Amino acid sequence: MRPPSSAKHKLMKTQVAIIGAGPSGLLLGRLLELQGIDNIVIEAKSPDYVLSRIRAGVLEQGTQTLLREAKVGERMDREGHVHDGFALSFLGRLERIDLHALTGGKTVMVYGQTEVTKDLMDARTQSGSLSFYSADDVALHDFHSDHPSVSFTSNGQKHIVECDYIAGCDGFHGVSRKSVPPESIRLFERVYPFGWLGILSRTPPVSHELIYANHERGFALCSMRSSMLSRYYVQCSLDDKVDDWSDQRFWDELRSRLPEDAAASLITGPSIEKSIAPLRSFVAEPMQFGRMFLVGDAAHIVPPTGAKGLNLAASDVYTLYNILRLRYQQNRVDLIARYSEICLRRIWKTERFSWWMTSILHKFSDDGFNQRIQEAELEYYTSSLAGKTTIAENYVGLPYEALE
Ligand code: APR
Ligand code: PHB
Repeated sequence: MRPPSSAKHKLMKTQVAIIGAGPSGLLLGRLLELQGIDNIVIEAKSPDYVLSRIRAGVLEQGTQTLLREAKVGERMDREGHVHDGFALSFLGRLERIDLHALTGGKTVMVYGQTEVTKDLMDARTQSGSLSFYSADDVALHDFHSDHPSVSFTSNGQKHIVECDYIAGCDGFHGVSRKSVPPESIRLFERVYPFGWLGILSRTPPVSHELIYANHERGFALCSMRSSMLSRYYVQCSLDDKVDDWSDQRFWDELRSRLPEDAAASLITGPSIEKSIAPLRSFVAEPMQFGRMFLVGDAAHIVPPTGAKGLNLAASDVYTLYNILRLRYQQNRVDLIARYSEICLRRIWKTERFSWWMTSILHKFSDDGFNQRIQEAELEYYTSSLAGKTTIAENYVGLPYEALE
């Protein structure tokens, strides 16, 4: 699309225009700004809206390292909780996956994604880098030329940002991926026939580590945000409405899907948030179109089983940040065309793990055959060192690919 005529527009220039102020856009912007690479963030919603989204809260070591590199790791290191294991529950018992022992000392950090986003937003406010929130009519132009631009309206004023590169960090429903002609992009998708009903409650977590439960009534997950804030999920029907689920019904259902000891020690209380989310696997290929890059949820979605969404976005950001850094600091233009290929190798492995965790833990039908196969698979994996190691290696996060 050609940019609109500049007569009524406020014209700005930057090196990288970043569309979307979710974790991907804000983290990329922060890393670039620390290297002196100028960028402008353009976000469709308000800051409060962005911070109201509740998402998974398990950070891989690579994500933690990147947040520290971005100098936004201080509160995470102070308030986050290091977890060196988690449990799989099936057939009424708990099997622990000792992440630390199985991966040579790696762990994960439990720290809410909302907090990560807040830390990044605060850092950007302090640094004074330019951001536009509540932007309307965001449109990408000429990214196949040497002069891409982004147009949008903010507070009634039309703007054009001329830039060297565009980072499409605008999530699954964003405009960036949709700006690519359908014949230039291939989409891979799997939609699962169930949802997750999640609640947040001001109660101590049932266990100090996460529990992922397979049960013949359906999947359940016990997670947490802190020692007094719990996050629980149960698999539900896609036809269910939040109002169908009283707190009492939720707690009864959760208890019925946990092993006896955990069920007995579950402390319940009023929910302070309750929502239903669908589950999807999705990948767009390629992820680079001339001078435009898709990053994070704009390019791929994983089902939440395994908490890989934010972590996968962070590894895209790592790759794009380093490619742009080398482009500006060493004039390495050759790496630009390798962005997709590098990202997609790790994305597909992580898609596979999230799909597999979803497949072995959820109820797909009333067919007892599938349930028995899942139980056999869980029993096999958790009784084999190789099986437990493969789960642990994937859960703590596969390594990032170095650029040469
Ligand atoms: N113009 C500008 N911004 C947009 C547009 C648009 N047309 N459409 C969407 N956005 C914004 C959204 O309002 C949102 O704030 O882009 C942002 C995308 O953020 P996320 O959906 O959080 O995606 P991402 O930053 O890639 O985060 C990846 O975090 O949010 C989770 O589930 C997600 O776990 C995954 C990870
Ligand atoms: C969460 O705490 O919200 C959470 C944790 C682990 C998951 C998914 C969600 O796999």
